[in-house]
Amino acid sequence: MSIQWFPGHMHLTRKAITERLDDTDVVIELLDARLPGSSANPLLASLIGAKPTLKVLNKQDLADPERNTLWLAHYNAQPQTRAVLLDASEIAPAQKLIKACFELDPERGGMVKPMRVLICGIPNVGKSTLINSLVKKRAAHTGDEAGITRREQRVVLADDFYLFDTPGMLWPKITVPESGYRLAASGAVGRNAYDERDVAMALLGYLREQYAAGLIARYKLPSLDVGNDEALLSAIGARRGCLQGKGRVDLQKAAEIVLTEFRGGQLGRVTLETPEAFMAWKTAADAA
Ligand code: G4P
Repeated sequence: MSIQWFPGHMHLTRKAITERLDDTDVVIELLDARLPGSSANPLLASLIGAKPTLKVLNKQDLADPERNTLWLAHYNAQPQTRAVLLDASEIAPAQKLIKACFELDPERGGMVKPMRVLICGIPNVGKSTLINSLVKKRAAHTGDEAGITRREQRVVLADDFYLFDTPGMLWPKITVPESGYRLAASGAVGRNAYDERDVAMALLGYLREQYAAGLIARYKLPSLDVGNDEALLSAIGARRGCLQGKGRVDLQKAAEIVLTEFRGGQLGRVTLETPEAFMAWKTAADAA
């Protein structure tokens, strides 16, 4: 399944980030812990180059704990990079993030050389939630920063620690085909860019292979041996009473249920890719 999504204004995003990067010490890249590789914006990777980067694996409460460990190790092995897990229920994430940024650039600090951090993340990854919780934690000053973008926000997390939010980190192109349905399933892609039935079936195909127990438990299915992914979606729809005329299963309704429940974590803690698998897809996509 190929999903493409071009929300527009890409050149504005590129411009805003490039301008801000000159005055940035550390980049915080917010990723979805259920799909860390797929939720990394390739445009950002090409723009930030060798800047120290803190990868924040958000929504870790929804992700597979074993795979969280694999992804942390994967990123922590990269130069100039650290990774931390986060979830929206954390009351005070500021200290953790501040500490990790100073570890990445120990030269910064104090009023003369405050730490300047740029936070980036694709839609729905939890950026607003995180910034709101940071702002609530400390009566933070936020405001427009003239001359960069009208909507850029500066959040003061400590006297010598400024967080800049460049809104609208938009997706340039889904370069790894396997990422398409993962991004759609996570809710990162606009709804008009994909067919819910296709995405739900692709998701079920992966879950039946990797997370069968959660699927069986959630939908009280005697087994997953019901045929292909469409047949599985149909079996789930039947369990949930998604019927239309003549007893046929309404696959659209069934797909909406599966996607909503995946997004809400009701199918268990799931991560849709390992670092190894993602790197293999990326290598193949780069070579194509
Ligand atoms: P964005 O600014 O990056 O676009 O994302 P936003 O903060 O709006 O978060 C998108 C959705 O993800 C929200 O749910 C939010 O509550 C949820 N979320 C953010 N961080 C976490 C996390 O660490 N764990 C979990 N489980 N969920 C998280 P929503 O249903 O769209 O909105 P709401 O009903 O929560 O307001």
